[in-house]
Amino acid sequence: MRKIVINGGNRISGKVTISGAKNSVVALIPATILANDVVTLEGVPDISDVTSLIDIMDVMGAKIERDVEAGVLVIDTRDVKSMPLPYGKINSLRASYYFNGALLGRFGRATVGLPGGCDLGPRPIDLHIKAFEALGAEMSFLENAMHLEAKKDSLFGTTIYMDMVSVGATINTMLAASTAEGMTIIENAAREPEIIDVATLLNNMGAKVRGAGTDVIRIQGTKKLHGARHTVIPDRIEAGTYLALAAAIGDGVTVDNVIFEHLDSFIAKLEEMGVRMTIREDSIEVHKSENLKAVNIKTVPYPGFATDLQQPITPLLLSTNGRGWIMDTIYEKRVNHVPEMARMGAKISVINDKIVYDAPNLLTGTQVKATDLRAGAGLVVAGAIASGTTTISNIDFILRGYDSIIEKMTALGVDIKLIEE
Ligand code: UD1
Repeated sequence: MRKIVINGGNRISGKVTISGAKNSVVALIPATILANDVVTLEGVPDISDVTSLIDIMDVMGAKIERDVEAGVLVIDTRDVKSMPLPYGKINSLRASYYFNGALLGRFGRATVGLPGGCDLGPRPIDLHIKAFEALGAEMSFLENAMHLEAKKDSLFGTTIYMDMVSVGATINTMLAASTAEGMTIIENAAREPEIIDVATLLNNMGAKVRGAGTDVIRIQGTKKLHGARHTVIPDRIEAGTYLALAAAIGDGVTVDNVIFEHLDSFIAKLEEMGVRMTIREDSIEVHKSENLKAVNIKTVPYPGFATDLQQPITPLLLSTNGRGWIMDTIYEKRVNHVPEMARMGAKISVINDKIVYDAPNLLTGTQVKATDLRAGAGLVVAGAIASGTTTISNIDFILRGYDSIIEKMTALGVDIKLIEE
């Protein structure tokens, strides 16, 4: 079993370069199926979710060349077959649901097992299914997998109102609708930067997707798409994780390769706490910051404060002064980091629908468990702040989404290593 061991308490400084966005690339890779051609992706992070998707694409017949160092992925999807994908890697990540939209768009049918991913409480996919059905697909269950089949010889554009703002359902609808006949209009669409990134790749492949980044997206179906070259946007969640760490224990840290507009609500919270920063075109420098103030955080869909950042920022909140709370309105059960941080000495608990904390806290290293990806990232930040040794188990969750976390943290001065037991 692999574990991360951190001897905490070091001050940190220097520069960290942010990798391509996990939540973009996990949609971009399935999207290449629609090209039926060669697509080159640049800025691909070295994370295990990418490896899992490549393995699934390989089974389907895609020819893939990967240069991990350079972050380049060349995917030839001309020989891809719409074969049943019931088990295996499909259940290891959430984003495998994008194979439904991509295969349905290209072949008019898809048989894909139910997605896995982090346990954040209930994570239904009813909106995805509703959208596929509205486009003219029929859904059934075949050998424990979801089977989707276009009722006629193609899908047909229509207007789809999303009952909830959903990143996955918005992207999946864009994928399936790109090759449908006629116009699809997605109302109450999610507005995350990753949605714009997927729309940009689809458009580079010849699709006609307009309005991504607003809550109405129009897709004029195009029968045949083609190859393209695309660079993945920087990961705003990875950036936020390092910004939080830098604010807590930094003596001057530059977080490089960021689009600061993607982090507006996060930066606003840091400013409210009293964190001193210099924001440049594609980097944010965090200066040594002291006497920070406790703040309250409510997670909401983009452009509001991201649910994926509430766990990584928690250790920073714990080192401020005062009392505050976090309310996650996207996943109210996203609280698995709370007992782990409490075991490190934090005054933190879940009261009704809020995580409530009292600060400051002197965290002490101990044995903790990464229960999910972002909770794990929060524990890495907590371990770097804490005095003594923190040993984190279940770290495969963390490696699903953080490129070279050991190397990047080490370069900043964190005493961290990965051990094999
Ligand atoms: C994506 C991100 C995840 C992030 C989340 C919210 C990926 C691979 N994952 O997940 O990191 O935490 O957005 O920003 O990009 N919902 C339904 N029915 C559905 C779909 C969603 O009720 O069919 C609900 C969910 O339970 C949740 C809310 O809608 O409460 C938002 O979920 P959604 O945006 O779909 O999250 P994911 O796309 O799964």
